[in-house]
Amino acid sequence: GKTYKIACIPGDGIGIEVIAASIKVLAVLQPLFDFKFEYTDLPWSSEYYRKNGRYMPPLPEALATLRKHDAIFFGAVGDPDIPDHISLWELLLPIRQGLQLGSNVRPSKIFKGVKPPLAGCEVGDLDWLILRENCEGEYCGQGGRSHTGTPYALGTELAVFTRFGIERHMRYAFELARQRPRKLLTLVTKSNAMRHGMVLWDETFYDVAKDYPDVKWDKMLVDAVTIRMVLKPKSMDVILCTNLHGDILSDLAAALSGSIGIAPSANVDPERKAPGLFEPVHGAAFDIMGKGIANPIATFWSAAEMLRWLGEAKAADGLMSAIEHVLEHGPITGDLGGKANTEQVTQAVISALKQ
Ligand code: NAD
Ligand code: IPM
Ligand code: MN
Repeated sequence: GKTYKIACIPGDGIGIEVIAASIKVLAVLQPLFDFKFEYTDLPWSSEYYRKNGRYMPPLPEALATLRKHDAIFFGAVGDPDIPDHISLWELLLPIRQGLQLGSNVRPSKIFKGVKPPLAGCEVGDLDWLILRENCEGEYCGQGGRSHTGTPYALGTELAVFTRFGIERHMRYAFELARQRPRKLLTLVTKSNAMRHGMVLWDETFYDVAKDYPDVKWDKMLVDAVTIRMVLKPKSMDVILCTNLHGDILSDLAAALSGSIGIAPSANVDPERKAPGLFEPVHGAAFDIMGKGIANPIATFWSAAEMLRWLGEAKAADGLMSAIEHVLEHGPITGDLGGKANTEQVTQAVISALKQ
C-alpha cells in the first residue's frame, strides 16, 4: 500500500477532541485497507499564540512546511479570550488563501437514522454538494477603518472577485456535478444588488456552462435560495456559490440535514498544485469544549473525503459505511438527539469497521 504524509493541525477547542478521535479511527482503517498515514503534528493554535505571539511560523515558512505533505487534516481554531478575527486571520484563512485552495466542497445529506428538523424530509430528500469559492469575495482581506473612536467611525470590507478565481472554481463545480447521478447545478449569486463582482460571476458562468452541455443548471439569488433549501430540498444537487454565501448556506445545509456535528469539508486546489485541507465545517464550539461530548462524525467524514481525494476510494467507502452504520444504529451524540460521548461514538465506528 501507499504511504501518505499528513500535516495534522488539531488547533483549538473541540478541534483537538475530534482530531484525536479521528486518529484512533484512522489507525484501525490503515491496516484494513492497506495504506499508511505518516503524521506531522503541528501545534499551531491559540495556545501556540499565547506562547509565541503568533499562530504559526511566518507564512512562507508555514506554507513550505504544509507543501511537503500530501494532505492537511485540520480541527478548528478559535479561543474565547482571543478575538475571532485574529485567530482566523492568523491561521486558517492564510492557509486556505496561501495554498490557493480555491474550492471548498461541503456535502450534506440526510442519513438513515438521523432525524432532520424539517417535517416530511426524509433520507434521500436532501443530498447536496455545496461548492463554496474559497479565496475571494469578502474574505480577500482588503478593507480598512478610519475615524476610529469618533461618531464618524467607518469600516470597509472590500469584496474582490477575479475571472481567474471564479472560472477555476466553476469548472471544478461542473466537473463534480457531472460525476453525480442527477447532474444538476444551481448557481447562487446576488447579482441584482451587487452589480459588479456578482455580475462577473453570472457572465463567467454562462461562458463556462457552454463547455458542460451534459450538466443541467439553473440560477437563483441567494435570498431566494434559502427558501428553496427549506421548502424544496429535493430540487437541488450541486450548489455553486461565493465564499461568504457558501459559509452561510453550508451551516444551513448542515442543520437541515441533522446537525453541524456531521458536516465535513474539503478545501482543495482544483488543479491539485497544493495539498488539500480537510476539516469539519464547525468551529471550536466554546459551549461544549473540554466536555468530551463533541460529535466526531463531521471530522470522520472529512477524513473519508481526504482519503477519496488521495485516491484511496475503498478506504473512504469503508469509513463511510462504518459512519452510516453508527448513525443508523447508534450510539449518537447530543446534537443528534442521543446521549453518547465522543469516545463512545469513536469506539462504535471502530467496531463497525472491524465487522
Ligand atoms: P461553532 O461551529 O464552533 O459552534 C456552533 C454551535 O454548534 C455550538 O452550539 C456548538 O456546540 C455546536 N457544535 C459545533 N460542532 C459540534 C460538534 N462537532 N458536535 C456537537 N455540537 C457541535 O461556531 P461558533 O460558535 O460560531 O464559533 C466558535 C469559534 O470557532 C469562534 O472562534 C469561531 O470563529 C470559530 N470557528 C472556527 C471554524 C474553523 O476553524 N473552521 C469554523 C467555525 C467557527
Ligand atoms: C468555516 C468557518 C470559517 C469561514 C471562519 C471560521 C473563518 O466559519 O470554515 O465555515 O468563514 O470560512
Ligand atoms: Mn462557517
